[in-house]
Amino acid sequence: MKHLLSMKDLQINEIETLLQRALEFQEDSANVLKKQYTIANLFFEPSTRTRNSFEMAERKLGLHVLPFEAGTSSTLKGETLYDTVKTLEAIGVDAVVVRHEQDGYYDELLTGLNIAIINGGDGSGQHPTQSLLDLFTIKEEFGYFEGLNITIAGDISHSRVANSNADALKKLGANVTFLCPPEWQGEFEATTAWEEVLPETDVVMLLRVQHERHGGDTSFSKEQYHQEFGLTKARYDQLKPSAIIMHPAPFNRDVEIASELVESEKSRIFRQMHNGVFVRMAILESILKERF
Ligand code: CP
Repeated sequence: MKHLLSMKDLQINEIETLLQRALEFQEDSANVLKKQYTIANLFFEPSTRTRNSFEMAERKLGLHVLPFEAGTSSTLKGETLYDTVKTLEAIGVDAVVVRHEQDGYYDELLTGLNIAIINGGDGSGQHPTQSLLDLFTIKEEFGYFEGLNITIAGDISHSRVANSNADALKKLGANVTFLCPPEWQGEFEATTAWEEVLPETDVVMLLRVQHERHGGDTSFSKEQYHQEFGLTKARYDQLKPSAIIMHPAPFNRDVEIASELVESEKSRIFRQMHNGVFVRMAILESILKERF
C-alpha cells in the first residue's frame, strides 16, 4: 500500500490483511519496525480521537513523531498544502497523516511528492482509518460481514464515515440501509422509518449531525431530530439481543443518541476508539514497510 486515501482503493484481501494485523497488534503491541521512521500529523480540522489514536499508534510502533500545529504553521501565511508537505518531505519526514476540510485534498499531493499520505479525513469525502476500525469492531463482534444488516443513520450527505463504510461494507457482503431526513440522503437511497429496520438490524451505526457543514441552515431542533431520527431508548429496546450500536464520535448526546445509551450494554463506541490504535498501527506498518 503506497498511501491510504479512500476505502474505494482497497481490495477485500487488503482489508482482511490489515484487520488480521491489527488483531495481532491487539494481542501484542511489540515494536516491529526495524528502521527509524519519522511521521507528522497535519490536522487542519479539529480532532480528538483520530489525532491522539494515531499518535498512540505511532509511539507504540517506536516512530519519531514530529510536532505540527496547523494554527502556528506557515499555512497561515498562505503556504499551500502541497508546499507544506513538500517541506516536511525535504526535512526528512517519511509519512504524513492529514485531515483537511477540502474533499479530495490529497489529489494535489500525488504528483511531485514521495512522502506517504494517510488520509485522516477529507471534508465530506472519506475517512478510511475510521472505516477500518469500524470493520475491525464489527468483525470482533460477529466474526464475519456477509449478510449482516447494518443501518447507518444520521447526517449521511455530509459524512465521510458514511461514504467510507458504505463502500467497504457492501464490498464485504453486508446489507447496508441508510436512515436519515430526506434532505440529508445525498447520493444514497434512504428510509425514514426506524420501525421497518430495527427488528432485523445487527449493527446500528449512528452518525454525528455535522452542524459545521450546514452553513447555519439546520432545519431541525435537537429535540425534533432526536425524536424522529435519533436512537431513543424506546428504539433501543426493539433491537435484537445480539445487535450492537456504533458511533464514530464525537456524539451529540440526546441528538443522534440518547445520553443513557452511550455506555449501554449494546454500545461499542469506546471499544471502537480502543480498537482504532491497533488498526492504525497496522496501517502505518503496512505503508512504511512497503515504501521505504
Ligand atoms: N471519529 C473521529 O474522527 O473523531 P475525531 O474527529 O475526534 O478525530
